[in-house]
Amino acid sequence: TQAPVNVTVTGAAGQIGYALLFRIASGQLLGQDTPVKLRLLEIPQAVKAAEGTALELEDGAFPLLSGIDIFDDAKQAFAGVNVALLVGARPRTKGMERGDLLEANGGIFKPQGEAINAGAADDVKVLVVGNPANTNALIAQSHAPDVPADRFTAMTRLDHNRAVAQLAKKLGVAVADVKKLTIWGNHSATQYPDIFHAEVGGKNAAEAVGDQSWIADEFIPRVAKRGAEIIEARGASSAASAANAAIDHVYDWVNGTAEGDWVSMGIPSDGSYGVPEGLISSFPVTTKDGKYEIVQGLDIDAFSRERIDASVRELSEERDAVKQLGLV
Ligand code: NAI
Repeated sequence: TQAPVNVTVTGAAGQIGYALLFRIASGQLLGQDTPVKLRLLEIPQAVKAAEGTALELEDGAFPLLSGIDIFDDAKQAFAGVNVALLVGARPRTKGMERGDLLEANGGIFKPQGEAINAGAADDVKVLVVGNPANTNALIAQSHAPDVPADRFTAMTRLDHNRAVAQLAKKLGVAVADVKKLTIWGNHSATQYPDIFHAEVGGKNAAEAVGDQSWIADEFIPRVAKRGAEIIEARGASSAASAANAAIDHVYDWVNGTAEGDWVSMGIPSDGSYGVPEGLISSFPVTTKDGKYEIVQGLDIDAFSRERIDASVRELSEERDAVKQLGLV
């Protein structure tokens, strides 16, 4: 059997952590042939809660879980890490300006980037879930100069999955029939869920919908504001669906996308589709052998161009703001 893969999860005692850890332990992150060793990182006040979760993980008697270690120090938590899930972040609280939010998160993602640089395994893959995910990923990446930049990714898979589900519902088809949907840009309200290249049962999805105003006035805002809808209904932010998306993101990155389909990932831009190089922006990607590639050659019409540009502009502004704060 294979040696265990070291999976570090930050924010392990949080609500996404609670939904995520059991699925990692059951083999859903990497596959049923791969044993995992969990390394949990929390702030000192939450270590005890993380220890409680570790007791429950033990009680799961998961055959693929070969150990759990808990840390309140990033250098230790990321030593030897193969897959890093950066979930813990500083949420925006009342009266907090955007600059304060970015600065508080800089205080988390800069040292974590440094710790990944210092101790990660050569094959490390990083997924940033904690918001603002794209810019937090950029901060961590810029403090890990010895790690290839493309190993730092941000999660837009929840948006992707939400969009797939809404489209399937509209057309009365199974989610598995929806292919090639794309989330472009930032994981924020400016994100652009694009169905103009998507396919449903082999036919173009936008044509199958045949209703531009549904796309512009219902579908796009519904997907972009789904997080708020969940908070309103549940009294808490999305957790299990976010954990599910993190599982999907890493599983597909490691195991490859299906022929004839693609997924959305926030990744460092190489300049494709006019997105400034280096911004961590969501693109359509295919994956194979643990590497991803941006899907090239898609026609972007004026409707899509305007929306992609607006979201990318927001990412540029976030990058400028963290530059000014000396965080990248
Ligand atoms: P939560 O507040 O329940 O848990 C966050 C945990 O992170 C807490 O236990 C806290 O102690 C820990 N933490 C804070 N600073 C840390 C540090 N420096 N090192 C290690 N741990 C630290 O939050 P929840 O609901 O689990 O969400 C986590 C993040 O994920 C939030 O930033 C949220 O906005 C984001 N999110 C992102 C989504 C996406 O699609 N990209 C979707 C849903 C949530």
